[in-house]
Amino acid sequence: MSTDPAAEAGPATGTDTGAAADTGPGIGPDTGAGAVRDRGRVAVIVPAAGKGERLGPGAPKALRELGGFPLLVHAVRTLVTARSVDLVVVAAPPSAEGVAEVQRLLADLPGDTRVVAGGDTRQESVSLALATLPEDCDVVLVHDAARALTPVDVVEAVVAAVRDGAGAVIPVLPVADTVKAVDGDLVTATVDRSTLRAVQTPQGFTRDVLAKAHAAADPTLPATDDAGLVEALGLPVRTVPGHAEAFKITTPFDLVLAEAVLRRRR
Ligand code: CTP
Ligand code: MG
Repeated sequence: MSTDPAAEAGPATGTDTGAAADTGPGIGPDTGAGAVRDRGRVAVIVPAAGKGERLGPGAPKALRELGGFPLLVHAVRTLVTARSVDLVVVAAPPSAEGVAEVQRLLADLPGDTRVVAGGDTRQESVSLALATLPEDCDVVLVHDAARALTPVDVVEAVVAAVRDGAGAVIPVLPVADTVKAVDGDLVTATVDRSTLRAVQTPQGFTRDVLAKAHAAADPTLPATDDAGLVEALGLPVRTVPGHAEAFKITTPFDLVLAEAVLRRRR
């Protein structure tokens, strides 16, 4: 695990040192996206409508508890703490109970938070939330509820890179394992690890780039991340450093890991 001192504080206190935000607007080469630098609000879409099948039987994953609070509450608490974030829109499990439960959870949190019913795929959940964003949101982040312990500094770094002129931004980490391609149980190739990155969220976009990417996306071949849809349009995607604690809670083992991270923060 990382020993980054910035990650020691919990989501309730936040870890915003202001460093990322202070180097944002107005710095860096003009790449033609200057329109989003100094105006427009930042919205974060939180896809939280998944079932959590790999976590095992139980409630939808975003509503399962970690240290006494649902994963979604951990994730949204950090987002509303971020100085650069103005609005959070959660794509809830689409049942009436799912939407009502998320509304109830968000009512206890500060900040401007809203709920929409999610869809059958992550891509559809993001699309449905995107369609509800107010006109004045020029920067849009998409952040998995399942990355419940993502430090606020990662959020600020992604916003800063969009403000700096990137149309699409993703946090990434180097890949620690050797990675091989296989056919059945036989190895066909060893992939050059040095060129690979593991991709996290929040991913950040100018609103027009994300809207174009979703408009062009094939709903029958849903993508697992939004930057993939931008790449499919042939548009550039910039990387910023991710964080070990932004890992996605997918399996029961990940919950054990998340509990250990939380204990260390407290
Ligand atoms: N998600 C969503 N709508 C869906 C499917 C997924 O909003 N129809 C969200 C999940 O709630 C999660 C994020 O997308 O926050 C990443 O998806 P994943 O980790 O795959 O979560 P689940 O789909 O819930 O898990 P599983 O695939 O194990 O069922
Ligand atoms: Mg899934």
